[in-house]
Amino acid sequence: MTAPLWTARVVTVFPAMFPGPLGESLAGRALERGTWSLEVLDLRDFADDPHRMVDDTPFGGGAGMVIRPDVVDRALQTARPAKGRMIYLSPRGRRLDQALVRDLAECPVVVLLCGRYEGVDQRVLDANAVEEVSLGDYVLSGGEPAALCLMDAVVRLLPGVTGNRDSLVEESFADGLLEYPHFTRPAAWTAHDGVERRVPDVLLSGHHAKVAEWRRSEAERLTRERRPDLWASRERSIKTLTEMRQTPNGN
Ligand code: ADE
Repeated sequence: MTAPLWTARVVTVFPAMFPGPLGESLAGRALERGTWSLEVLDLRDFADDPHRMVDDTPFGGGAGMVIRPDVVDRALQTARPAKGRMIYLSPRGRRLDQALVRDLAECPVVVLLCGRYEGVDQRVLDANAVEEVSLGDYVLSGGEPAALCLMDAVVRLLPGVTGNRDSLVEESFADGLLEYPHFTRPAAWTAHDGVERRVPDVLLSGHHAKVAEWRRSEAERLTRERRPDLWASRERSIKTLTEMRQTPNGN
């Protein structure tokens, strides 16, 4: 078998949570085929006492427990890839977005450190130059569900995992836009509320250029209405690109 295109190396106190949902469907089949590989390290295997303790009380007091630096350090020395990135999933991190997902898909090995309790001793994150990545502005009970989401987003970009490559080009965020609405048969459909809803005529026209134009304008409208933040950052990038093209030598 050829080497996997991408390896996720997960450090966790709950190894049984993996592969979890990623053992099913597209990601699961790709895992079986060896397109990507999942290595799970049980943090407790790196403890140094018979009770396999990984946490301790926080200096300064307060609620909860903190994961010990020595235990995490031993795990990271084992997990550390020759070429790759080490990420700690935490609500304090850089927000995961499609650009970061694309970058991570290019990285042969990604180590994902999952925290529990109040978090991990800061010194071991500093000593290992671990990047922090967040799924969003809410608090999960641990990094494991966040690691699963990150892996799902990366794996579906790997060659051969998502059947139709066009869908990757057209999907939400591919071009900094949300995706246009989708419809299937019947062309006129009456829901439980008694209202007949019709598919936009242009989609039934068979006119490819007009369909593409409609989809584009719907994607732009939805992005402007629902995600003004995305729209503004896209406008800024377009402006910068236009300015760079006008001054090719940077003068
Ligand atoms: N761990 C707990 N909450 C998290 C979040 N929002 N993102 C990533 N990891 C987390």
